[in-house]
Amino acid sequence: MAARKPFTDSDAADEAVRTTCDDATTCKRFATSQGYWKDLYIHYFVRNVGERKAPEINRGYYARVKGVNLLLDEFIKKTECKCQIINLGAGLDTTFWRLKDENLLPQKLFEVDFPVVVAKKIHYIKTKPPLSKPIIDMHSTDSLLLDAHNLDSDRYCIVGADLRDVSSLDEKLKKFHLNPELPTLLLSECVLVYMTPSQSSNLVHWAAETFPTAMFINYEQVNMSDRFGQVMIENLQRRQCTLAGVEVCQSLDSQKKRFLRTGWEHADALDMITVYSMLPQHDVARIEHLEFLDERELLQQLLQHYCICWASKDKLNLGLSKLAF
Ligand SMILES: C[S@@+](CC[C@H](N)C(=O)[O-])C[C@H]1O[C@@H](n2cnc3c(N)ncnc32)[C@H](O)[C@@H]1O
Repeated sequence: MAARKPFTDSDAADEAVRTTCDDATTCKRFATSQGYWKDLYIHYFVRNVGERKAPEINRGYYARVKGVNLLLDEFIKKTECKCQIINLGAGLDTTFWRLKDENLLPQKLFEVDFPVVVAKKIHYIKTKPPLSKPIIDMHSTDSLLLDAHNLDSDRYCIVGADLRDVSSLDEKLKKFHLNPELPTLLLSECVLVYMTPSQSSNLVHWAAETFPTAMFINYEQVNMSDRFGQVMIENLQRRQCTLAGVEVCQSLDSQKKRFLRTGWEHADALDMITVYSMLPQHDVARIEHLEFLDERELLQQLLQHYCICWASKDKLNLGLSKLAF
């Protein structure tokens, strides 16, 4: 029998990063239970609503989900669904089922996360018919792969891989019929910050080199050099979770530069205060009535410390650089 590998500090650090997936999903579960937005599938991944979250946390998640979805849906509409999506560090994200219900499914949606997270997600999918049925129904041949560690179907594929190992990532995605010529949307939501700047640059460089027509949407921290940023870093550090990429989260400019230095033609970035003010205001007014917010300043500080940065390359001249809020 092969000797078991010793448990190292870096295993513990990776484990701490993986637990952020549960945090994100529980916060989204709670916010949806309060009516901030609709997600008809998240309860299959987290059954209990869980502990109450502060109103500013719920509003922060609302801005994150609505902001990212707005750009993502614009891309899909621009390409008339003749595209693919790669969600990097997808965790227990439910976008596949939302897009299916809204008739916005791309030709194929890929998700990547650590193998342990992927195995957990696949287990939920296999044991919950409302999750598995649409995947099976949309698959045309008898080649559906749905075992403990892999899912590959015509329209949806989940791959276990470490995003810091770009050549293995590339190999795995190609094995599952990734098509580099198709307009491609890459998405990372609170993921790049857990890699060193050189690891995340390698990843976005790989994406720029691989896809001639593509857009990258990245949501994560920004303005991290002030006191509020420092407290955020310390809180995560206490849980052994290091923000290895925090250097790139100094400003909107440093966020854009990561893309412009690695082969992307165009990049934009907005902090979440600005994104929040650009979301459909009738819906913002609706959610602002859901819960009383005592600490408006705290919400502002929180929104000031997150951003959406999006970049594009456009060989097919689809007008991707014009996609915006
Ligand atoms: C904060 S969670 C966000 C999950 C999801 N994007 C969302 O917003 O709900 C970060 C996710 O990135 C994944 N992740 C971070 N670093 C990774 C790496 N090097 N390789 C694969 N997955 C990674 C984690 O396992 C986790 O699922």
